Amino acid sequence: MTDAPTRPRALTGIQPSGTPHIGNLLGAIEPALALQDSHECFFFVASYHALTTQRDPALLRERIFEVAATWLALGLDPERTVLWNQHAVPEVTELAWILGCLTSKSTLDKAHAFKDAVAQGKTEVINAGLYTYPVLMAADILAFDTNVVPVGKDQKQHVEMARDMAQRFNRIYGETLVVPEPSIQERVATVPGIDGRKMSKSYGNHIELWLPPKKLRKRFMAIVTDATPLEAPKDPDTCNVFALYRLFATPEQAADLAARYRAGGLGYGHAKQEVFELVDARLREPRERYLELRAHPERVEAILEAGAERARRVARRTLDRVRTAVGL
Ligand code: ADP
Ligand code: TRP
Repeated sequence: MTDAPTRPRALTGIQPSGTPHIGNLLGAIEPALALQDSHECFFFVASYHALTTQRDPALLRERIFEVAATWLALGLDPERTVLWNQHAVPEVTELAWILGCLTSKSTLDKAHAFKDAVAQGKTEVINAGLYTYPVLMAADILAFDTNVVPVGKDQKQHVEMARDMAQRFNRIYGETLVVPEPSIQERVATVPGIDGRKMSKSYGNHIELWLPPKKLRKRFMAIVTDATPLEAPKDPDTCNVFALYRLFATPEQAADLAARYRAGGLGYGHAKQEVFELVDARLREPRERYLELRAHPERVEAILEAGAERARRVARRTLDRVRTAVGL
């Protein structure tokens, strides 16, 4: 039977496809880290997923380091939580093959990453890795008997596909795989970028986490606002600055700023400065830890290696069960 942990198991991955930003922080990293007290946590760097788009080896190595150091700087406790690189656990790609054999083409045709590339006419970027991306992601989840997958809303479909694959496997071969649930925090399901669209590296509207304060401030100053004059009342609910402010503020702070918007006399420049200060204060200590880890990459490497060993032990047991179930 499944290798039931004492506490429910949470697992999530971040692709090293760019420098982590505020959308990743609020949508994925913080909600995941908040589970460390109540769950057995497995967090990893999705290096093989990044390979569907990344072609520069030096840059890929750098970004893998950045994502790992980001987890640690923001509070991942390596004593309790397992942190590893996806490519250090070959059992996952082994499971991906087996799950791929149970997944129909019509299912993969519906996956967002693939559908979006087709819709944008970008057929040249569609490789077999991108097309089968949801299968590898399902293997990530199912290899570790995961109960809960904390992700941003854009990943919901992928987690649902993993559920379907687990259920299909269990129907055909008997109860073998744990069926996971996505966990999505509605409040931060879609963090807006500086232009109001979903914050994303691919839109260039993101605010990177580890910018030095001066550059960070500049990004906040670049938030797009309308032309309402300084003295006029303003609507917080349609303002990109306020949309970000409320995600970092206490309810009291947000209510206070909203009242000042409505009263008039508050310039957008002031509001931008306030949200910058809030975010800067929140990131100050993590930033120091991040810089410390950058100065000592060997610490990050050691944690990743120890994590990979723990992760492999768990995945190996699942794979043994799976192989037996399918008749191998
Ligand atoms: P990007 O869209 O910038 O490429 P990723 O796809 O690498 O970001 O996202 C990594 C994680 O961060 C995922 O769990 C995703 O759901 C979450 N995430 C990314 N952008 C946002 C956002 N704007 N709001 C909420 N969550 C986000
Ligand atoms: N696809 C996810 C993203 O782009 C990253 C990811 C890969 C993941 N494997 C995962 C997330 C498994 C959760 C569980 O953000």
